[in-house]
Amino acid sequence: MIQKYVYGNPFSTDAVTVQMEAAEGAPQFGQLCTDEGFCFTYEMGKEDIVYGLGEANRGINKRGFRYVSDCADDPNHTEDKNSLYAAHNFIIVAGKETFGMFFDYPSVITFDIGYTNLDKLKVSCAHADMNLYVITGETPYDIVKQFRKIIGRSFIPPKFAFGFGQSRWGYVTKDDFRTVAQKYHESRIPLDMIYMDIDYMQDYKDFTLNEENFQEFPAFVQEMKDQHIRLIPIIDAGVKVEEGYDIYEEGVANNYFCKRADGTDFVAAVWPGDTHFPDVLNKDARKWFGDHYSFLIDQGIEGFWNDMNEPAIFYSTEGMTEIKEMLKKFSEEGEKGVPMFHLMGKIMSMSNSHEDYKRFYHNVDGKMVCHEDVHNLFGYNMTRAAGEAFERLVPDKRILMFSRSSYVGMHRYGGIWTGDNKSWWSHLLLNLKMMPSLNMCGFLYTGADLGGFGADTTEDLVLRWLALGVFTPLMRNHAARGTREQECYQFDHIEDFRSVVETRYRLIPYLYSEFMKAALNNDLYFKPLSFVYPEDEIAVRVEDQLMLGDEIMIAPVYTQNAKGRYVYLPEEMMFVKFGRDGEITEKVLEKGLHYVEVALHEVPMFIRKGKCVPVVASAECVDDLDSTAPELIGYAGSEYTMYEDDGVHKDYENPKNYRVLRK
Ligand code: GLC
Repeated sequence: MIQKYVYGNPFSTDAVTVQMEAAEGAPQFGQLCTDEGFCFTYEMGKEDIVYGLGEANRGINKRGFRYVSDCADDPNHTEDKNSLYAAHNFIIVAGKETFGMFFDYPSVITFDIGYTNLDKLKVSCAHADMNLYVITGETPYDIVKQFRKIIGRSFIPPKFAFGFGQSRWGYVTKDDFRTVAQKYHESRIPLDMIYMDIDYMQDYKDFTLNEENFQEFPAFVQEMKDQHIRLIPIIDAGVKVEEGYDIYEEGVANNYFCKRADGTDFVAAVWPGDTHFPDVLNKDARKWFGDHYSFLIDQGIEGFWNDMNEPAIFYSTEGMTEIKEMLKKFSEEGEKGVPMFHLMGKIMSMSNSHEDYKRFYHNVDGKMVCHEDVHNLFGYNMTRAAGEAFERLVPDKRILMFSRSSYVGMHRYGGIWTGDNKSWWSHLLLNLKMMPSLNMCGFLYTGADLGGFGADTTEDLVLRWLALGVFTPLMRNHAARGTREQECYQFDHIEDFRSVVETRYRLIPYLYSEFMKAALNNDLYFKPLSFVYPEDEIAVRVEDQLMLGDEIMIAPVYTQNAKGRYVYLPEEMMFVKFGRDGEITEKVLEKGLHYVEVALHEVPMFIRKGKCVPVVASAECVDDLDSTAPELIGYAGSEYTMYEDDGVHKDYENPKNYRVLRK
């Protein structure tokens, strides 16, 4: 059952798509106070587990830390960080009482989950203006499904998006892209997408192409498609301030940019230098910005990634003026005028500052709303701008879209990638743990920068991370400018990379089926073990293995120099390893703890007792996979219902999409 409680005057986020009457009285769990801001407190039982929060730091069980929903462009995802790029304010308390809560609140909100007091849950924010949804159900899994129903169907990408993608910030010319395609081809490693980072644009201007490097772009898009490669360009939030640039001129003329209190357009510096932010919370501006994606769609582009949409601000005009004044004072009066640590502090905090978020406004149905009060909705609405435009521009076709920043509700318009991680083993594990939480909040098409974005990677880290990426819907290798090159062909053992990536392609019919079933039934693609084995006291605490669909469990290796890992089996399972040249080894293992060896080129997975999984031959790209007669691996006598459609259009409800396969 779901009850909605309304406090004060909530901003309408459109996160929830179902109309509900407000309930009377107070929620049956915990205490709620709205005297000074909003505060919910709950005494947790010692054994209670808290799930949720989507894209957030740390574990699947969120207990023992403080998380702050405050969409932030912070590339250092260390263990102490409270905020990442997203705001997914849904939690489930499971234990002495089991319930879920969605705090539909668009600004900064803090989840103190046993941080200040070990057994106390405290959710608080500055204003008591909120829609609060309280969900009761038999199990956390049941609560998640109820929640998913009220927030609407998750975004479904085209099928090619289940292929492997290569990205790097630093591909500049057509030849850079050609080289990537050619090297993958020569290495006989499948590839479906190459991502275009900001360098494809002219001076980092949205909806432009670099004039020197991308002449005759449609022909180039086609040239790549002829090699089975789709180009996926990035779109950034900030629109460059430049006379004569059509997007800038249109935005200014129509008041489509975010404004200061005095009515002038707010200026924030990002990659292009000074920019204005499109006011994506304003319906008209949203439509206008979204329609501009047609610039690239019309040239043959079928997918995008939306970036810097927290929105990221390197500095504002106001912030820079303050710093200049401090510097002047320092140069005239030295430490006496401005102590160095003040100056340093000011410079260090000039990016993505709440001082700046307080300086600009959105026009929402004629009312000026301060950005600070709706901060967490920007990335969501930028992606919504695109999603709504795709519905108008190409209504029958699926367009790939994923975003860096997000709020619940955005899951209907796009997936997400988890932003600027590092080439650290700990981030491989963080990637794994984040996946089920993201799914709980509706984000199914998700993945991390495989190999790590920042810092120099190593061959073994890329291989192990790819072996996890085999199972994440978004499988993309991406790295930052200036870091070690990490395309699969850059390393010694190309054949190892081939077997890992080929495993992905062999499993696409299965992974796609499970993704589609999860999307169409408001279900989870990745589940914590506790959702499947709630009675198993060991399984409920396992955080480094995940259930995928109804058939398999994954347990990637995430430790350097390890020859394998320990894995806990809550029931008998078939341990499967994918090796070179299509080799598959199978071994039935009993319930309990096992050490399994996994070489760098191998991909391990576990098939649940009585289940089977379809496997096909690998191919150069998704379109070339032949799934007419998949091989079934797993338990004899089992059957599997496979979902298949053309992967392009939206004929999701057709019963012909399902096929029962028997082993
Ligand atoms: C941001 C993105 C990253 C991208 C870079 C340059 O840091 O998160 O993926 O490569 O900007 O556009």
